[in-house]
Amino acid sequence: MAALRTDEPQLAVRAGVVHAPRLARVAALDGAAVPSLDPAGTVLVTGASGTLGGALARHLVTERGARRLLLTSRRGAEAAGAAELAAELTELGAEIHWAACDAADRTALAEVIASVPADHPLTAVIHAAGVLDDGTIESLTPERVAHVLRPKVDAAWNLHELTRDLDLSAFVLFSSAAGVFGNPGQGNYAAANTFLDALAQHRRAQGLPAVSLAWGLWEDEGGMAATLATADRQRMSRGSMGALSNAEGLALFDVSGLAGHAVLIPAALDIAALRAQSTAGVAPLLRGLIRTPVRRAAAGGGGGADEAASLAQRLAGMSAAERDRFLLNLVCGQVATVLGYGSAAAIEPGAAFKELGFDSLTAVELRNRLGAATGLRLPATLIFDYPTPDALADHLRAELPHGDGGGPSVFGELDRLEAALAVAADDSVTRSRITMRLQALLAKWNDAQDAAGDGGTDDHDLQSATDDELFDLLDDELGSS
Ligand SMILES: NC(=O)c1ccc[n+]([C@@H]2O[C@H](COP(=O)([O-])OP(=O)(O)OC[C@H]3O[C@@H](n4cnc5c(N)ncnc54)[C@H](OP(=O)(O)O)[C@@H]3O)[C@@H](O)[C@H]2O)c1
Repeated sequence: MAALRTDEPQLAVRAGVVHAPRLARVAALDGAAVPSLDPAGTVLVTGASGTLGGALARHLVTERGARRLLLTSRRGAEAAGAAELAAELTELGAEIHWAACDAADRTALAEVIASVPADHPLTAVIHAAGVLDDGTIESLTPERVAHVLRPKVDAAWNLHELTRDLDLSAFVLFSSAAGVFGNPGQGNYAAANTFLDALAQHRRAQGLPAVSLAWGLWEDEGGMAATLATADRQRMSRGSMGALSNAEGLALFDVSGLAGHAVLIPAALDIAALRAQSTAGVAPLLRGLIRTPVRRAAAGGGGGADEAASLAQRLAGMSAAERDRFLLNLVCGQVATVLGYGSAAAIEPGAAFKELGFDSLTAVELRNRLGAATGLRLPATLIFDYPTPDALADHLRAELPHGDGGGPSVFGELDRLEAALAVAADDSVTRSRITMRLQALLAKWNDAQDAAGDGGTDDHDLQSATDDELFDLLDDELGSS
């Protein structure tokens, strides 16, 4: 029960002690010398025809002293730009071999590894192969999951097994922050990358070299980042995740071996923006980075209890007309932020949300943002219950407490009750008395509902629906697939 009272999405209980995951900064590595690669050894790069693979191959030769690269991808030398890359690096004095090899095909990969000459043995492996096939959980068929797991799970395991007896100085896995944070629409990709993170731990536990780099977004738009829609990028930057320049990414790659960790998350996190991020609240995983005190979920109902309290105060001091304008502006402002419009003024108050371009993810984000700003518990179905900014602002006005005779709303009172319960006395007698009062109140409320013949079945269904069911419902309502 204590665990359920927190707002932590994940907890581990070990030997009776509850642990919550938190990201932490790596100790500063300033001044630490990045070691050169053995010029006599061979470096294997998978996914070398990709955007990051290509940038990395150049970097290994120009900055890290690599002289022999074995570059692979399924298309190998046939891939666009592969021949030019080989020519460019050869010009710089490196020996480049391309191999067309699906790294998930163990026999093919074993042949490629066996082709490395004994006088230039394999000394480093960098696994940068990967594919995307994004979709909501319901749409992920076994084939779509297998397709994305293949270049990460099968290929990485093959590399691990086929090189475990070689004397490697580095075994680097290109993973993604999607595995750590769980990006919407990337369930298969998140799982695939989490496997890489676990494999790095597994190898280090066996005394083998390994680091999994769970990259945040790279700026270079040619690779996987290119598949992100503008709305996705804006959603990520609202979450305070920017993009790494190639120079930053490659510098982080260089120092990753010095940090001494199996898993690192090299990402352009904007800590200042994260601190300032008030309405959406800070993800529990990131709280250690900004030292935000952990809020008791029951006290705040989310991250915005302070803002909600000051909003109530501001509304109380306004005339009815001012309040109307303020709430409409609040709704239009949040709609503009979520959909990437310039400002609240760009949003037509009478326009249907559906026409403005909402999908299920943005609908839930709007609900969350308005919930945090107002302190109200708003339904996931908010934008089709109140289909225009005007209607939604009216709804907020009806629900929010204000000072002109309407009296406090029941929901505002419930929030206050919830906050009081969170800090109620700890002795068992008081707790029992509170429990009895609450049960009696609930029984009275249920009797009144039964008498009114209102079973509220739809609401119950929504309460118990999973996130995916809610997204489906929203997609149906919005007419999108
Ligand atoms: N770009 C980013 O912002 C970003 C962020 C986080 C993590 N990452 C990770 O960084 C890595 C590189 O990303 P990227 O943006 O450079 O992607 P990309 O441009 O799409 O390149 C992916 C590469 O993987 C190869 N590949 C796919 N399946 C393969 C298989 N079974 N065996 C061998 N090669 C295979 C592809 O070539 P073929 O089609 O010829 O096989 C291609 O060379 C990926 O692992 C990705 O998960 C990237």
